[in-house]
Amino acid sequence: MRFFTVLGLPILGILVTIQPSIAATCTVSKYDEDNIKNIVSECKDITLDNLDVPAGVTLNLNLNPGTKLTFQGTITWGYQEWNGPLLNITGEQLEITGAPDHVIDPKGNIWWDGKGEHGGTVKPVFFVLHGLKDSVIHDLKIKNTPYHAIWIEHSDGVIASDVYIDSKDGDTMGGHNTDGFNVWTSNNVTLERITVFNQDDCIAIKSGTNVLVRDVYCYGGHGLSIGSVGGRDYNIVENVLVSNVEIENSDNGVRIKTVYGATGSVTNVTYEDIFLVGINNYGIIIEGDYNIDTGSPTGVATDGVPIKDFTLRNVTGTVKESGVNIYVLVKSASDWHWSDIDVTGGEQTKECEGIPEDSGISCE
Ligand SMILES: *[C@@H]1O[C@H](CO)[C@@H](O)[C@H](O)[C@H]1NC(C)=O
Ligand SMILES: *[C@@H]1O[C@H](CO)[C@@H](O)[C@H](O)[C@H]1NC(C)=O
Ligand SMILES: *[C@@H]1O[C@H](CO)[C@@H](O)[C@H](O)[C@H]1NC(C)=O
Ligand SMILES: *[C@@H]1O[C@H](CO)[C@@H](O)[C@H](O)[C@H]1NC(C)=O
Repeated sequence: MRFFTVLGLPILGILVTIQPSIAATCTVSKYDEDNIKNIVSECKDITLDNLDVPAGVTLNLNLNPGTKLTFQGTITWGYQEWNGPLLNITGEQLEITGAPDHVIDPKGNIWWDGKGEHGGTVKPVFFVLHGLKDSVIHDLKIKNTPYHAIWIEHSDGVIASDVYIDSKDGDTMGGHNTDGFNVWTSNNVTLERITVFNQDDCIAIKSGTNVLVRDVYCYGGHGLSIGSVGGRDYNIVENVLVSNVEIENSDNGVRIKTVYGATGSVTNVTYEDIFLVGINNYGIIIEGDYNIDTGSPTGVATDGVPIKDFTLRNVTGTVKESGVNIYVLVKSASDWHWSDIDVTGGEQTKECEGIPEDSGISCE
């Protein structure tokens, strides 16, 4: 079914109103590339209704400024091994949202094999928000992503709120590297009231400036990450505030990773009011020795990506007995302010190297 309503009557083949179609409401319920292209260019209020996107296809929506896009019903994608993305949205002053009953379900469980990006099936990135400007995303429900869920990249001015990413099935069905949010090379990004059940980073800020993350719940993944920073096209993280996050049953709580031998900077980062519950590996881990090729630490930190002006305030909670409460291995860090840190349950501090003086933490 195709609903394509255009305001304005064609008279003698000519549309009489000025910009006749731009106010139209348009619904897509069947995938047809040409129809979608038309709708995207003609409409400013678009509904995707129970759409099933064929296998191996990116649903590319390069929207007109000011467009409202609504997901309605169940949105699905067919199975194919490829890198994706399955959904790619670009535009300015957009509003991207979901109707109350909707679920966006790429059926990632069909790809899952416990290997994530390290082999097995080739798994597509799910949702790329590319070059978004002054846009809001709110009230979205996303289920079972094959691989990373949402990338915000090359964007300036994005507010994502009330987004629920539920890849919990991956805990028992082989989900891996199912990152919740990744932010790359973007400015002025707010993520608020976010819930993520997954098997990798809950929220990872790879690079970007003026990023605010607040009121978040993370379960089952790798916690909050900055990095890895270094070795990419853009290697700056600056002015980040992360506030009021609960991280439960995850590999890490708070993590900053910078790349061994690379250059860049991590400046003015604050985490406050973070509550950890049953963390598996590291409650707080700040490491300057990440090898981007092997994905493992080298054990030796380098000084090319200094962590400056770094505040941790009111970070509390528990690590499992087999885990480590706090791990720091950095070089050339400065101006750290840690206060009200109470992370317990794991072994004593395992590594504690490179912490600037007067930081409010000490190594015993
Ligand atoms: C997403 O869409 C934008 C704009 O159409 C394009 O420049 C970009 O390459 C696309 N990204 C991917 C990964 O397809
Ligand atoms: C940041 O982005 C939001 C969302 O588009 C916008 O409302 C706000 O004005 C932007 N702030 C700055 C300083 O650009
Ligand atoms: C540090 O970051 C915070 C939060 O993003 C921001 O409000 C503040 O202005 C920044 N400080 C400096 C010196 O830029
Ligand atoms: C510390 O953070 C917790 C959330 O983890 C919050 O409930 C509590 O009010 C905060 N304490 C202070 C003194 O701000």
